[in-house]
Amino acid sequence: MIPKLKKSFILTIFGASGDLAKIKIFPALYTLARQGRFPQNYFIVGFARSEKTQDEFRKEVEKSIQEYTNENVKPSVLKELLSHVHYFSGQYNELKSFQEYRTFLKSLSKKEMSHIAYFSVPPVVFHPIITNLSKSRKNKNEDIRLVIEKPFGHDYKSAEALFHYVSEHFGEEQFYLLDHYLGKSSVQSILNMRRSNRILSNIIRGSEIANIQITALEEVGVQHRIGYFEHVGIVRDMIQSHLLQIFALTTMTIPNKLSSESLKREKNNVIEAIDCPAEDDNVVLGQYKSYRSQEGVKKTSTTETFAAVRMFIDKENWYKVPIYIRTGKKLHEKHTYISIELKKFPFQDEKEQPNRIIIEFHPEPRINIELVNLQEGVSRYQSITTADSIACNIDGCLPEHGSLLLDVLDGKRLHFLSFSEILSAWRVVDEMKMLMKERCSKLYRYEDGSEGPKEQHRLPRMDGFEWYDLH
Ligand SMILES: NC(=O)c1ccc[n+]([C@@H]2O[C@H](COP(=O)([O-])OP(=O)(O)OC[C@H]3O[C@@H](n4cnc5c(N)ncnc54)[C@H](OP(=O)(O)O)[C@@H]3O)[C@@H](O)[C@H]2O)c1
Repeated sequence: MIPKLKKSFILTIFGASGDLAKIKIFPALYTLARQGRFPQNYFIVGFARSEKTQDEFRKEVEKSIQEYTNENVKPSVLKELLSHVHYFSGQYNELKSFQEYRTFLKSLSKKEMSHIAYFSVPPVVFHPIITNLSKSRKNKNEDIRLVIEKPFGHDYKSAEALFHYVSEHFGEEQFYLLDHYLGKSSVQSILNMRRSNRILSNIIRGSEIANIQITALEEVGVQHRIGYFEHVGIVRDMIQSHLLQIFALTTMTIPNKLSSESLKREKNNVIEAIDCPAEDDNVVLGQYKSYRSQEGVKKTSTTETFAAVRMFIDKENWYKVPIYIRTGKKLHEKHTYISIELKKFPFQDEKEQPNRIIIEFHPEPRINIELVNLQEGVSRYQSITTADSIACNIDGCLPEHGSLLLDVLDGKRLHFLSFSEILSAWRVVDEMKMLMKERCSKLYRYEDGSEGPKEQHRLPRMDGFEWYDLH
């Protein structure tokens, strides 16, 4: 049976008219409602600047649920959910709006309940909302949980300044710093599988591994978020959080006692130990050819839409084990996977294929273990592959935002980020950016729909390896 939340709550969505709310949050709320997760008493309140009536807002929510939910929408569930939806029009930078908003919440319910504030607004609006939420509260002990999505800053300095600022108003334990990759059940499986299988836990150790590759390819280019992307580029957009989180979950030491603190500590330990040696040319950057002709992009733009990086973990047991990450847009396929290539025995021939563990997230969440069988007398290898799905297949599977929202409502922090691991990841990205600048890294223009710049092959070849292409 799917468990139901017991405690009543108020969920405020700041920026309720935006894309994130429409495309991700409202559909996730529908799925949670359809699964009967919500308690009897709860309030979902959209907070945004434009004036609109309660009915107009409910119609907007209904439209986005109809448009973006990945399941048949049941009218009875939708009607019940909409009866919990409210709207408040206010200014993010006016304390008066927040004081009126507090009064509005009181008019909905006299009872004290957990308050979840979801920042579905661009980062420029974080500061005024934090300030006004803090100034308008009567009780410093109120149960308020603040949900903020990545990006957290633009570099180490800005992230540090953001955390410094927010800490003046709220404790770190009140923040749920969200990277939606951590809500994917296949990404959560990395930790779950490493913790529950000696086969994997004994193999995924630096001393056994020849190299690790993390690949995240997209077929689409930069679409509606071009203004944001042009300023940020793919290293900051994909590597800084999503892919370094996958890296950390794959390579960290597994804590005996699993808690959100021990998990964050171990992830941070391994991110802090990343070494991108300055003496080597460890970065390859690319840009798809039609990128500069998109509206909102400068004709001379040097924003990278493809990046491949080579790095190491500065720990004894990971000595000389290269980790390669590559990601890009407008490529020949959409595919996300990790390849863990195991070391060969000393007596094995150079030409013999290695064993590999492949963890695939998209299109097919599954794990492949590739074993090699040399057929006697025939100069041919038989690859024995055991593949099984790691997709969620129980009752109550949720989309990423649904699963993470449920965690916030339930006060579970395992799949959220800490200030320290975000800062460590920015340190890595800042160093990469610095190296790219110092070396005047070239930007290779690549054909739309291609495999990306061919120069990417240079990185694994520095260590005698090749990219593993999973088809
Ligand atoms: N969209 C995605 O797929 C996605 C993915 C990952 C992370 N994120 C992050 O999630 C957050 C929200 O993203 P989003 O795409 O929904 O943002 P958005 O559509 O650009 O903005 C959301 C809402 O914020 C308000 N707003 C926008 N610019 C403002 C400004 N300069 N001053 C005051 N209010 C402003 C607007 O609401 P009103 O005018 O109605 O008040 C707008 O509808 C951002 O931090 C983003 O980086 C988004």
